[in-house]
Formats: sequence, structure tokens, C-alpha cells
Amino acid sequence: MASTPPAPRAVLFDAYGTLFDVYSVSLLAEQLFPGHGQALSLLWRDKQIEYTRLVTICNDGAHYQPFWALTRSALVYAINRIVVPAQPTGASGLFDTEIDRLLNQYRHLSAFPENRQVLSELKARGIVTGVLSNGEPGMINMAVSSAGLEGLLDHVISVDAVRKYKTHPEAYALGEQATGLPASQIVFVSCNAWDALGATWYGYQTLWVNRYQLPFEELGTQPTRTGSSLREVLDFFPV
Ligand code: LAC
Repeated sequence: MASTPPAPRAVLFDAYGTLFDVYSVSLLAEQLFPGHGQALSLLWRDKQIEYTRLVTICNDGAHYQPFWALTRSALVYAINRIVVPAQPTGASGLFDTEIDRLLNQYRHLSAFPENRQVLSELKARGIVTGVLSNGEPGMINMAVSSAGLEGLLDHVISVDAVRKYKTHPEAYALGEQATGLPASQIVFVSCNAWDALGATWYGYQTLWVNRYQLPFEELGTQPTRTGSSLREVLDFFPV
């Protein structure tokens, strides 16, 4: 018989893609680069995550750069890959203004609409809350305050403290260190399937929020639960 997991006492949220909508930049990208907005925002995000893995895996982290620097580099890559080849021959453009505007928008990403209510309800139920993100502290704090979520999060945890990105175990361990709880008593919530998988492998109870009706990773492990919005995290804490 499968053993029942212990009652969780805390929730840690991934930030980008989970609390904050990384694809909300696609509207501005479309205005700046008509016809390329969606492709650009998808590649920007994928490249950003690929870079976090490269700098964590290679040479034992010797090439670490903060998330904001990787976010900028990933945007430049995506523009070079998608926009530059589509320019008329002979057109020149360094796109500095567009890069600045898109990065500025990234600093103030839209928050998903249910965030505030779910965080308030968790606080009302006495649950410890936090963010555990690849973002560096300044970046996460700005996104949290832009979204008006200050006061609803007990911990804002950045992997920058260990200079290793998720899914490195040292990154996930920060959640246990900050809360003083074992991973088995913490629910980790992510919309990113790879992050939900990494956290499950680490030992967290997990909620994968599948906002985009995607398949989960095909690596033989499932998240503890799957939902379609952050609201489903409340089901871990029946009143
Ligand atoms: C984060 C990335 C994974 O916030 O979205 O950690």
C-alpha cells in the first residue's frame, strides 16, 4: 500500500511562468516585430532556460551569470535568429531600443489573475508561503512588488545564493533551508513541467499547473498533482 505523504505546511512557488506570465511580452514583441511576436517570445523563454542549464552544468558552474544577464542574452539570440534573417537585404539594425523596451516589460511582467486571492487564502489558513526562483533577488522583488504581492510571501528565495539554477539539487535545497521544513512537507508549485519534475525528484510534494494543456515530461515520474490554475494548491490544505 502506498504511504500517505505528510501534511504539508508550506508552499513555494516558481516565479517566471507560474506567478508571472512570461508570454505577456509577446504583445509588445508583436508591435515591435510584426509577424514575429509569438515565435520570438517562445524562443526567448526556451533559450533563457537552456542558458541556465548550460552555465550550471558546464565546468561545475564556472560560467554562472545572473538570470537577468541570461535573459538579455537569450533575447538577443532570439532576435538574431528570428528577426534579423527576415530583414530586407542591406537593412541594418542593432535593435538596442527594442531590446531595452522588451527587457523593461520583462521587469514588470503581468501576474496571473488568481495569484493574490490564492496567496491570501493560504495565509488565512496559516500556511507558510514563498517564491523559489531562478531570478536574482532584485528581479524577483521588482516583479513581486509590481504585482502587489508583497506581504503575502514569507520567503523570496533566489538560486543566486548558490549560483546554480534549478534543477540542481542545491537550488531546490534552498527551500528547505529557508523554511526549516523538509521537502516532503512543502508543496512546490510550477507551471514549468521540467521544474515540477525536478522538484518531485528532489522530494517536494508538487503541483504542476498545466496552463497551456501540454503533455507532462515523459521521464517516468509524475507530479504529486496536476491542476489548471494556482487555485488547485488550496486542495492540499483542506479547511
Ligand atoms: C523561475 C523560472 C524557472 O522563476 O521560471 O525559477
